[in-house]
Amino acid sequence: MSRKKIIAGNWKMNMTPTEAVALAETLKPLVGNEDADVVFCVPAIDIIPVVEAVKGTNIKVGAENLYFEEKGAYTGEISASMLTDAGVSYVIIGHSERREYFAETDETVNKKVLKAFEHGLTPIICCGESLKQREQGITIDWIRQQIKIAFLNVTEEQAKTAVIAYEPIWAIGTGKVATTEQAEEVCAAIRQCIGEIYDGATAEAIRIQYGGSVSASSAPELFAQPDIDGGLVGGASLKADFGRIVNYNRNA
Ligand code: PGA
Repeated sequence: MSRKKIIAGNWKMNMTPTEAVALAETLKPLVGNEDADVVFCVPAIDIIPVVEAVKGTNIKVGAENLYFEEKGAYTGEISASMLTDAGVSYVIIGHSERREYFAETDETVNKKVLKAFEHGLTPIICCGESLKQREQGITIDWIRQQIKIAFLNVTEEQAKTAVIAYEPIWAIGTGKVATTEQAEEVCAAIRQCIGEIYDGATAEAIRIQYGGSVSASSAPELFAQPDIDGGLVGGASLKADFGRIVNYNRNA
């Protein structure tokens, strides 16, 4: 079985609504690739205008976060049904920046994953080790723990549709991309872990991205690895370069 690639931009806290529409218009003609699903994960306030701007294209819109409660007195938070009603289909959960600056834990990640699935949103579940953990030789153990907790009470059918983004923290925004071997090793270990939690068919179906300083020049080799099904792209998703990344298999 061959998995369709999925290439997602993570715009982070960039782009006002006006700028977001202009960027979406710039990228629209550049990101057609029938071999890949293309997602723009945008700030909450940009969702509605970007959904409008990409109507009729292959581009799907994602959010960068959601809250795990259904609704109510949670000032400043955004619910899953707000996202789906606005036309969102994916949501990034547990990005390392949210874990570091906003105290997200494996447990809150799990609650958010369950809430996303309950509403038919596809989670892009982030995991990754720090440089210290890599140097200590505990990368795989650490990531297996993140994955096991993130998938608690997630059904096999749900897990098959999930996206996992492996993002070594030391590679995010640093220009220091992991080597192809490092990225493939961890993505393969994640797939094995999913196989242990569920079964071989689920491991085969789930899509695993690499993220961390992905560029137009590193994407072709990374995305050609057997266990890497695309990328979660930060900095380079804000530029025309994103079109070259999406077309990683065309411009070699
Ligand atoms: P980067 O960010 O591509 O700028 O390293 C990736 C991410 O944080 O998702």
